[in-house]
Amino acid sequence: MCGIFGCVLKEGMAAPLIHASLKTLEYRGYDSVGIATISNDKIWLKKDQGKIDDVHKLLNLDDLPGSIGIGHTRWATHGAPLKVNAHPHSDCTGQIVVVHNGIIENFSELKLELENSGHNFVSKTDTEVIAHLIEANLKRHPLSLADAVLETVKSLEGSYAIAVLSTKEPDKVICARNESPLVLGVSENGVYCASDIPAFLPVTNKAVMINNGELIILSQAGYEIRKINDSSIVVREPEIIDWTPEMAVKQGYPHFMIKEIHEQPATLRNTLRMQEHYLDLISTFLDRANEVFLVACGTSYHACLAASYMFSKLAFLPTYPVYASEFIEQHGKSVNIDSTILAVSQSGETADTLAAVTCAQQRAATILGLTNVIGSTLTRVSRVYIGQQSGPEIGVAATKTFTSQLSVLAQLALRLSKKRGKISQDEMDDLEERLEHLPDIVDTIIQTQEEKVKHLAEKYKDSRVFFFLGRGISTATAFEGRLKLMEIAYIPSIAFPAGESKHGPISLVEKGFPVIFICPKDDSHKTLIGNIMEMKARGASIIAIVEEGDEEIKALSDDFIEVPKGIPEVISPIPFAVPLQLLAYYMALEKGHNPDTPRNLAKSVTVK
Ligand code: AGP
Repeated sequence: MCGIFGCVLKEGMAAPLIHASLKTLEYRGYDSVGIATISNDKIWLKKDQGKIDDVHKLLNLDDLPGSIGIGHTRWATHGAPLKVNAHPHSDCTGQIVVVHNGIIENFSELKLELENSGHNFVSKTDTEVIAHLIEANLKRHPLSLADAVLETVKSLEGSYAIAVLSTKEPDKVICARNESPLVLGVSENGVYCASDIPAFLPVTNKAVMINNGELIILSQAGYEIRKINDSSIVVREPEIIDWTPEMAVKQGYPHFMIKEIHEQPATLRNTLRMQEHYLDLISTFLDRANEVFLVACGTSYHACLAASYMFSKLAFLPTYPVYASEFIEQHGKSVNIDSTILAVSQSGETADTLAAVTCAQQRAATILGLTNVIGSTLTRVSRVYIGQQSGPEIGVAATKTFTSQLSVLAQLALRLSKKRGKISQDEMDDLEERLEHLPDIVDTIIQTQEEKVKHLAEKYKDSRVFFFLGRGISTATAFEGRLKLMEIAYIPSIAFPAGESKHGPISLVEKGFPVIFICPKDDSHKTLIGNIMEMKARGASIIAIVEEGDEEIKALSDDFIEVPKGIPEVISPIPFAVPLQLLAYYMALEKGHNPDTPRNLAKSVTVK
């Protein structure tokens, strides 16, 4: 998730505006920044790794000449956050430059073809392929720049929002969209394209929404929209946006947390575009491992706990989920050259997780990493790492990064299961198909259950303590639900495997004591009903997260939230976590707390 911006001004310099616009998009990524303008038929380009303010201090991003330009602030997915991978990327001649937000899935094949036909690539990014493809199309056919871009995007698979500048037609910016966000701005003095409205809100509140599969030509004459599939012209008038700049950064949401919860359908889709190569590599290391530790903290630890069920149930691989802060005490002496550590950390900077990794590394263990921040310390200490592509998460409470971690871990378990012949091709295809549906399922849950969760929060806002219970893999979901409610609503909450309740915790239960049960229709469903009865018998208020049509548990519940049915057990924590995220969010609001900046917490805990 990066931020792109482009503009064609009637008068004035483009660079200072592009710089300011990228600043408003910095929440989308801050690994590197770059601007290109065109003047006197020459491309002027400045880019470097690092945050916008730091790069500006170094390079002065405001002095590039010309009133036409494009810019980019990056969230690395392909290629480390280094200057060479910063956007804009150029073709062999340097006469075509591109900025891109999204993931080109077939970039490896396209790159190979282009290299075989003599193109020289300088970066490790997927994006650079686009600049070279436009160059090749312009060489092959006498095309306009717009038509060359059109031909190019037709050969791309994956998500993209791009803006292109070229000396071939120095009075235009060409942009196109497939899935990644793109919106136009229109003012007296020019036209603008951007990943998000905040970028041009300071100069205009007239916005033109761009749909998937559309290409746009920006020029002094204004904007022209064309359909990519048949080049037909699309007429669309601007609409007025009544947002304050502050509101805009949150895209109209009151808080980053609820915005990030709503982003999960898109971020889950991103996880389904992982580079096969890295999934294969990591599953090969896991397959060969003697013992596997899944090491992390907080929400990431809960993803590891769920993964231990996935690896065992799908691939018959026993793994040890370990709190990173306890790893050295628990395994520091026994970890060895035959041990493999899969360290999971959205920030890639959590001190406890890195300390565990260092301890294991010093004893020659193999380190694998799963993180959301390419270029983070975890990526540098890992033998192989995989980036989960959730984009920056601003809210302290991890939400979209949790479900993305689970999706990647499920895909690893599936691959391992296939590699070990523990699953038939039909079972594999079925599970992969269900994974493909998860983004829509999560979207349905948000659309259909959010209001209901809001009422639940209102109803139970005065409860002094909550239980979260689940069986099997739902134990991990219960732990995550508990953490969310504690960290942002400050309500004491206890989670444990439902089977444990009669070994002690049930003594706390009295009339009206709220107990949240996570109830996917899996092998543990029948036994869980027994646990619900136990709690009900002591007067507990039963709040159940159930599958649609689960009348048995609904009849036992005081309140219930429904998720679409037919979700395989091993991926059930993804959809079942969403109502718990929403409950914590609305409970925090009921309690008058700001969900984005909970007291005593930090987004990345870099101290032990
Ligand atoms: C979760 O909402 C918290 N922000 C916290 O528990 C977090 O999961 C933990 O600090 C681990 O962070 P990491 O994934 O960046 O390593």
